[in-house]
Amino acid sequence: MSEIGVFEFKGKRYEFPVEIGTENEISIDIKTLRGTTGGIITMDPGFKNTGSCKSEITFLDGEKGILRHRGYAIEDLTKKASFLEVAYLIIFGELPTKEQFAKFEGDIKKKSLLNEEIKDILDGFPRSAHPMGVVSSLTGALTAFHPKYTDVHSEEEIYNAITNILGKFPVIAAWAHAKNEGTPFNYADNSLGYVENMLMMMYKIPTTKYKTNPVVLKAMEELLILHQDHEQNCSTSTVRLVGSSHASLFASVSAGISALWGPLHGGANKAVIEMLEEIIEDGGDVEKFINKAKDKKDPFRLMGFGHRVYKNFDPRALIIKESADAVLADLGVTDPTLKVAKHLEEVALSDPYFVDRKLFPNVDFYSGIIYRALGIPVEMFTVMFAIGRLPGWIAQWKEMRKNNEPIGRPRQLYMGAPKRDFKEVSER
Ligand code: SDX
Repeated sequence: MSEIGVFEFKGKRYEFPVEIGTENEISIDIKTLRGTTGGIITMDPGFKNTGSCKSEITFLDGEKGILRHRGYAIEDLTKKASFLEVAYLIIFGELPTKEQFAKFEGDIKKKSLLNEEIKDILDGFPRSAHPMGVVSSLTGALTAFHPKYTDVHSEEEIYNAITNILGKFPVIAAWAHAKNEGTPFNYADNSLGYVENMLMMMYKIPTTKYKTNPVVLKAMEELLILHQDHEQNCSTSTVRLVGSSHASLFASVSAGISALWGPLHGGANKAVIEMLEEIIEDGGDVEKFINKAKDKKDPFRLMGFGHRVYKNFDPRALIIKESADAVLADLGVTDPTLKVAKHLEEVALSDPYFVDRKLFPNVDFYSGIIYRALGIPVEMFTVMFAIGRLPGWIAQWKEMRKNNEPIGRPRQLYMGAPKRDFKEVSER
């Protein structure tokens, strides 16, 4: 007998089906709530208790610090698979055979040449333009250059849109970076792997031969895998919501990039570095900033701490923290922010305010330190997050399309003025 959820109101009893997920998570299906109760809705700002969809892509357990993609543990994927292999898994549901991977990689490489007219659009931006705004705009512009790939009802065109955006996105990111730096735009080199190609396009300058640093490549591959998907986070939910109106993959991802930009979400990796630098400039008094974060009258928050789902530890933060030590040692980089970060973490994790609220370092706390050690400018940190998250956005958008999800349109509780008559200006 399947379980039911019961809601009683004003002497009436309403029953709703309960569904149990693969990992025994429980949901109450309230699809019929408004209709059967004559208009009652739920209220859940920030959707902290509300499931928006059923998904087979990522499972995360905030209490146990578990993160799996299609059943595979993130710890295995970062150590044993390449970025593009994990992208294939996340998007298509299985780890690829050699042949499947070769076709997927080949189709992406065929689409790694950006239309030259994109440069005209880039010319329109000021050199100081934030790369997240440039990348979001140029991703939306792909609809203009590849209108056929915006057909959301054709499996073939959806596959073309997927390989097209995977091929072009790293180029768009590299050109946005070059625009900021005033350096020449690099083209993709299809003889390189996906992440190596992305690094080459960001760093290669015409006057010197570009050589990949294997330590940087390994760290970047790992970092980008860690960012690939994270179930229904803010930017992914944005991609699904925009896609639910049958907008194209390009338009939906462009919206997701904008959502990721916020400092409470993907913009946190940049905000962490700015916070650590502020602490150093202020004399390194970590306690002072911990107290600011605890002071309700002070809007300051400890960036890189806390998470909507992880209430124990963010498994990604553990992996990144280990790799931060290794990368900085390998590169012989001593970064004062790393020392402050570790001290801040130590103090915060022994402070009841953070422990009681289960505020632990998240994926963004250490990633910025590695990006900086790898020579990535702080303006590009969130763009790196977007490059990592792209396969997840694609996979979630594709799943939403495959399941033919209804257009997203939440309700509200109206708290405004009751009906009133119009007032002529002479009466106001
Ligand atoms: C990402 O969803 C995802 O999966 C996101 C992500 C992904 O991969 O897509 O994991 C990536 O976005 C990671 C988070 C990066 N953001 C930051 O590091 C910004 C700093 N953190 C916070 O702003 C906050 O913790 C959030 C936004 C991450 C989560 O906020 P919630 O779940 O809405 O928690 P809340 O705001 O309800 O806070 C609960 C309590 C409050 O205090 P009380 O009202 O109970 O007294 O904790 C406090 C908050 O004031 N709090 C913090 C804090 N985070 C929460 N206090 C100080 N510093 C913080 N960082």
